[in-house]
Amino acid sequence: MLIKVPKASDCHESDVTPEPFYLSRRNVLGAAVAGLAVSSLPRWANAADAERYPGVEPGKAPSWFAEKLPATKWGAVNVKDEAVTPFKDATHYNNFYEFGADKGDPAANAGALKTEPWSVVVDGEVGKPGRYELEDFMKPYQLEERIYRLRCVEAWSMVIPWIGFPISALLKEVEPTSKARFIRFETLQDPKTMPGQRSGFALIDWPYVEGLRLDEAMNPLAILAVGMYGRELPNQNGAPLRLVVPWKYGFKSIKSIVRISLVSEQPKTTWQSIASDEYGFYANVNPTVDHPRWTQARERRLPSGLFKPNVRDTQMFNGYSDEVASLYTGLDLRKNY
Ligand code: MTE
Repeated sequence: MLIKVPKASDCHESDVTPEPFYLSRRNVLGAAVAGLAVSSLPRWANAADAERYPGVEPGKAPSWFAEKLPATKWGAVNVKDEAVTPFKDATHYNNFYEFGADKGDPAANAGALKTEPWSVVVDGEVGKPGRYELEDFMKPYQLEERIYRLRCVEAWSMVIPWIGFPISALLKEVEPTSKARFIRFETLQDPKTMPGQRSGFALIDWPYVEGLRLDEAMNPLAILAVGMYGRELPNQNGAPLRLVVPWKYGFKSIKSIVRISLVSEQPKTTWQSIASDEYGFYANVNPTVDHPRWTQARERRLPSGLFKPNVRDTQMFNGYSDEVASLYTGLDLRKNY
């Protein structure tokens, strides 16, 4: 993976209408058209929610997402006094190799990705396999906001307010068989809309694949996200469905998922297949195990720039040791990086 020095954020918060205002206006119109009483307006149509994330650009939330949002359990805005990364940085400094190798490529190119309709296949060692339209796939789950650190293996980091649901809830729905030991995720393969999949650059054997041990997936911190900053996921961040495992390097958090398989063998994952001496299956954030080409002891928290590099110490398991360290008791984390 490439390391580049990012531009400082040039976010002008006053330039855009905060998304909740936009959504609430649209909802008022929708309610009027449907002849609904004003009391049916969602909870987030109020000023407090609208002020959560100023500067968020409006999206085009599918109706199922907008309908679920009123019941969302919102998180506290700060993670231990660490500020949420500005929306502009989180959406314009991305890794999504299907759309190009530069940090700005996903924002420039992912608009072409068609996220509606979207279906997700659940298969392998499950009692209830199937192909679901995303709206149906999402029906059983209540959304909640989780504000997590995101630490990339390239040694930059952010703090992102995700909206999603625990993978454990999905596993309960699909009923893994006794043979299921891992969960494998696959991204959409569509060279027509994904220039990275057409280019000769492709060291990657598409589709992008990631995986977790089943007990890792059951950990309450592991979520499937459908939104961020109070709105649906922008395409460049992995719309409409992505994984978020905050104690692992960012490359584990696979984007734009179309297949979820329960399997008995450890899946071959994308970066491990490309360079297993640099990227392991576990990929737990670990400041004591360096990448062969750079230190993992420190990280650049975005926004960062030449005069304000914003460098900080990296924490074991990205600061989530209390929640996840017990998953790795007895495992040599130097060998299983
Ligand atoms: N998922 C897919 N399908 N393709 C990718 O290239 N990049 C990964 C991960 N998920 C990637 C992916 C990497 S290296 C990182 S650091 C995170 O997405 C970045 O997520 P972000 O762009 O939302 O910050």
